[in-house]
Amino acid sequence: MSDSNINRITRLKRDANAEISCEDNLKFMRRLPDESMNLIVTSPPYNIGKPYEKRTSQDKYLEDQSACIAEAVRLLAHNGSICWQVGNHVDNGQIFPLDIILYPLFRNHGLQLRNRIVWTFGHGLHCQRRFSGRHETILWLTKSDDYTFNLDPIRVPSKYPNKKHFKGPNKGELSSNPLGKNPSDVWDIPNVKSNHVEKTDHPCQFPIGLVERLVLALTNEGESVLDPYLGVGSSAIAALKHNRNAYGCDLNKDYIDIAWERIHQLRAGTLRTRPMNKPVYDPEAK
Ligand SMILES: C[S@@+](CC[C@H](N)C(=O)[O-])C[C@H]1O[C@@H](n2cnc3c(N)ncnc32)[C@H](O)[C@@H]1O
Repeated sequence: MSDSNINRITRLKRDANAEISCEDNLKFMRRLPDESMNLIVTSPPYNIGKPYEKRTSQDKYLEDQSACIAEAVRLLAHNGSICWQVGNHVDNGQIFPLDIILYPLFRNHGLQLRNRIVWTFGHGLHCQRRFSGRHETILWLTKSDDYTFNLDPIRVPSKYPNKKHFKGPNKGELSSNPLGKNPSDVWDIPNVKSNHVEKTDHPCQFPIGLVERLVLALTNEGESVLDPYLGVGSSAIAALKHNRNAYGCDLNKDYIDIAWERIHQLRAGTLRTRPMNKPVYDPEAK
């Protein structure tokens, strides 16, 4: 692509399939129609004093989460999914797992938990008085039993793809699905630290591959994905990359500017992302 084309694309202010805004999420969500989102995937602040949040009382934090979750439930399509990705609130060395704390808020709206996905990763703080935290979770909840779940696009390679049935009516035939296996509810995906290809100025961004798996499994092409705590737009990138519509907002203008820049790079074919199912580097592997 010529330089002039790249400049033209990176100067775009809008994208036909993305509605992204710098504003408070309640204000943004209240403008959207009931049941208009097929997937709402997000990672809210944990109330631990990160640069993008003001530490507050746990009561006020829960009140804010409760208001955002209520809006998310209103926006969720009948066959849609909510994925709320969280770690721990930490106070004075004591941890408070946010999935346990927030789960009742979803249940109060009648949502049904389908998986509690454990996301494991290799990097983080080295703790001195407890084991270093190397996992967070994703609560995947649906509004009804009639929910979208596409397994084939997210299958991962089987460990023994050539294994055959050794007895019975299928003796001699392959015993595993040639398209691969279910990725399970434990996902080992590197978190975005300084040497990650997707690293931006955001301190806690999603790896795009993590959201891609949710987008592909829980929505179909042409459907809509919302992230009410959008950060630098990783969920929007995952949605647009797979021909879904992206909605999202963040209070921080710098993050929204980066989100738009990444979308324009995606459209120009210049955005670098870590492939969704790339195995984690193991220096000891033979
Ligand atoms: C954990 S980060 C999400 C990062 C995001 N997953 C990404 O990949 O970049 C939480 C984000 O929520 C934003 N935020 C906090 N309160 C908000 C609110 N009331 N409305 C919109 N965004 C908010 C913060 O600015 C921060 O970027």
